[in-house]
Amino acid sequence: MCGIVGYVGRQQALEVVVGGLRRLEYRGYDSAGVAVIADGTLSVRKKAGKLVNLQTLLGEDPLPGSTTGIGHTRWATHGGPTDSNAHPHVSEDGSIAVIHNGIIENFAELRQELTAAGVQLSSETDTEVVAHLLARELPAADHDLTGAMLSVCSGLEGAFTLVAIDARHPDVVVAARRNSPLVVGIGDGENFVASDVAAFVDYTRQALELGQDQVVTITATSVSVVNFDGTPALVTPFEVDWDASAAEKGGFDLFMLKEIAEQPRAVADSLRGRVDADNRIQLDEMHLSEQDLRSIGKVVVVACGTAFHAGMVAKYAIEHWTRIPVEVELASEFRYRDPIVGADCLVIAISQSGETMDTLMALRYAAAQGARTLAICNTVGSTIPRESDAVLYTYAGPEIAVASTKAFLTQIIASYLVGLYLAQVRGQMTAPEIHAVMDDLNDMPHAVDLALDTVDGVRAIARQFADATSVLFIGRHVGFPVALEGALKLKELAYMHAEGFAAGELKHGPIALIEEGVPVVVVVPSPRNRAVLHDKIISAIQEVRARGAVILAIAEEGDDKITSFADHVIRVPIVPALMQPLVSTVPLQVFACEMATAKGHDVDQPRNLAKSVTVE
Ligand code: G6P
Repeated sequence: MCGIVGYVGRQQALEVVVGGLRRLEYRGYDSAGVAVIADGTLSVRKKAGKLVNLQTLLGEDPLPGSTTGIGHTRWATHGGPTDSNAHPHVSEDGSIAVIHNGIIENFAELRQELTAAGVQLSSETDTEVVAHLLARELPAADHDLTGAMLSVCSGLEGAFTLVAIDARHPDVVVAARRNSPLVVGIGDGENFVASDVAAFVDYTRQALELGQDQVVTITATSVSVVNFDGTPALVTPFEVDWDASAAEKGGFDLFMLKEIAEQPRAVADSLRGRVDADNRIQLDEMHLSEQDLRSIGKVVVVACGTAFHAGMVAKYAIEHWTRIPVEVELASEFRYRDPIVGADCLVIAISQSGETMDTLMALRYAAAQGARTLAICNTVGSTIPRESDAVLYTYAGPEIAVASTKAFLTQIIASYLVGLYLAQVRGQMTAPEIHAVMDDLNDMPHAVDLALDTVDGVRAIARQFADATSVLFIGRHVGFPVALEGALKLKELAYMHAEGFAAGELKHGPIALIEEGVPVVVVVPSPRNRAVLHDKIISAIQEVRARGAVILAIAEEGDDKITSFADHVIRVPIVPALMQPLVSTVPLQVFACEMATAKGHDVDQPRNLAKSVTVE
């Protein structure tokens, strides 16, 4: 969380930086701020609230023209979302400005030390100490900002990306990274640093991945990277494989609607090139040996939020195909419960951003216990894939709306590919069996496209439910995680009480929540291949209907039996049982989006949330 961008080059820095912040606003929107250097003077503007507030301020109180600048969009941790806590933070003499993403854990001691030395702090943030520490270290570093940054970083604890500029060195931007994201954009006569390539993809697609504990110094024409100990660092160049238009709304009112609509393409891209000429699954990025994969006795999936739900879906498929036990753990809980993980474990970290701190920490814990680690990730160059033994990228393209949609579907696809690959390597499935599942998967872009036909119907129903105080979601088998995901979407976007349950659990407690008029969304299993479950879910519907619930059923085409048990039915295409989440999730995404819109909420930037949660 928090988006940061730094620029030095030949254009108006403010334009580049504010454009970058617009692209990074998904990372937090409690406040925004910028700093530029012009004629040897540092100028700062910052404002609580979304970026638009800062833009208004910049209109009223313009900054001078400059080719060096930094900008920040904040998700508050230390200190409320006020103007004074907004970044950048500035040294007492007004010459150094700093922006930060992460948490400086020893900030209280550092604040005390600075206060004792007579420094006046003007915010409640952990970040501000860095501006004062840089000012203190500069003389000892011969007034070299990079040197000062290195010595300040050596005294910091926690996770941080820091970017600093100094009025006395107007052509330099210095950034440091420990456990927080930072990428460098290499332009022509201009260079960039940012939390995410989205900030500079308008200008360049050439980028550098930084490692942990590194400091990068950019000028308009140079980039140099050193480790925290001052030694030259190895960095990996990469090319961003999407362009700026992918991060625009492209005619849709909301990023979320655009991203929902992109799902057929995202699924197709995530499946592309996974089978070789001999019809065997090949996972190019999967750098774990077949020997390693054959020795696995257990799979553990660690993830958060929507990615956790994708892991729950994956469990059904991977266990079915490989007969390897699969545990799915909330990443934030994993390492605190003394889990049983060792060399015979494959730990799969699922993360759209590749930065979620809870997931990263779980992954590191697993690696330290000797487990093999695999990342399923949507962001090339991010920390989680970099720290994993193997990676399988999803090709969802940039996901800007805070509530995850296309990433979820592609995470399911990627974990299914891992399951099939494991089954292939271990001889658990025959080639024709794997081929048949791949055929089913290859039908999914079209099926998801058909599921998008539900959009108008779902929107109309959602409007009718907009005044409900609570919505329950139930499902069975792979429909259970889909129910959880439907409820999460509604909480995130419509700020409503929403809960997902395994339908069979209703009678063990949640049924007490049912009263007259409560909407219950039912993810109905197929009557063809899951006839027993279909009958059982009808029983669950009967139980809640008898107590006044209003039923919205998500059922497959041709499931006529469901009609008389539901108040509303949304039809999704007929697909194999394990593929059902790929189609039944779509109407639930639209449902939440429409409920939030009906309530007048900001769908793409829901309150209190951030897309990329880089604190534990
Ligand atoms: C945050 C987001 C969720 C997301 C979760 C995991 O909580 O608001 O939408 O599912 O993080 O994110 P990741 O990037 O690890 O998939």
